[in-house]
Amino acid sequence: MERGDIVGAFGGGVIGDLAGFAAAVLRRGVRFVQIPTTLLAQVDSSVGGKTGINSPAGKNLIGAFHQPSLVLADTSLLDTLTPRDFLAGYGEVVKYGLLGDAVFFDWLEAAGPKAAAGDMDARVRAVERSCQMKAEIVVRDETEQGDRALLNLGHTFCHALEAATGYSDRLLHGEGVAIGCALAFELSARLGLCSQEDPSRVRAHLREMGMKVDIKDIPGELPDAAALLDLMGQDKKVLDGQLRFILARGIGQAFVTSDVPKDTVLAVLDDALRA
Ligand SMILES: NC(=O)c1ccc[n+]([C@@H]2O[C@H](COP(=O)([O-])OP(=O)(O)OC[C@H]3O[C@@H](n4cnc5c(N)ncnc54)[C@H](O)[C@@H]3O)[C@@H](O)[C@H]2O)c1
Ligand SMILES: [Zn+2]
Repeated sequence: MERGDIVGAFGGGVIGDLAGFAAAVLRRGVRFVQIPTTLLAQVDSSVGGKTGINSPAGKNLIGAFHQPSLVLADTSLLDTLTPRDFLAGYGEVVKYGLLGDAVFFDWLEAAGPKAAAGDMDARVRAVERSCQMKAEIVVRDETEQGDRALLNLGHTFCHALEAATGYSDRLLHGEGVAIGCALAFELSARLGLCSQEDPSRVRAHLREMGMKVDIKDIPGELPDAAALLDLMGQDKKVLDGQLRFILARGIGQAFVTSDVPKDTVLAVLDDALRA
């Protein structure tokens, strides 16, 4: 590779993160192009310039911000995905509606099942709106000093669940995001931030899509609530030892806060594990 060469990342999020990181460190950074082939990669990982690899010490601890020169998302590539991989990517699509666009979430409630069944117009619109939302947020805050953290809605819970399942195929990343979003809305409702109808509506949509919705949908044993809370403390979104959460005042109205009583989080996890 020479300084002027271009790395092409053709594949899902794993390939995109790996090839992007390689491009970031090769000769102190060569240009790269993302050609994402999974729904998750088309709506999320290929956009925004986060690249990285996991290490034994934790997920995404080694990486670089390195923007692709071009992202080329061809939605016809999605036809060959397994339904499970498609729905995992859909977890990130729902996240965008939940964090900042209630109208998009309304549309997903109607069009999500069509998109899953293969409707190309619905798929194009879902990918397009997701990329727009991610790009808008990343432009405001590329290196996550503030607003970019909104994109982590559901992810503090998700990362704990991924760690608890050993990053195995018991739980795909996007499945953990969906469960995490449902838990974030449950937590928001318990704290009196949003109405109790909101978490019910989130869960009803995920259920209708045939997705994992609750912690109990994850096969196999899981650690108890206190151990899961510990795993949440390992999350990279911890700032000065304080857990940061993305909560919501309603569908489409997420915000970042460190002001969350641990007892309430424990209670939400405990109820979810018992359910
Ligand atoms: N950089 C970021 O901002 C960011 C954001 C979200 C997720 N991620 C990372 O992305 C990864 C998950 O990405 P993913 O869900 O794309 O998983 P993945 O890359 O593992 O792909 C999922 C599966 O689909 C297969 N596949 C890919 N394209 C296909 C196609 N067109 N048809 C049939 N099969 C196909 C792959 O071989 C793989 O088995 C995680 O490691 C996550 O941490 C990164
Ligand atoms: Zn994610």
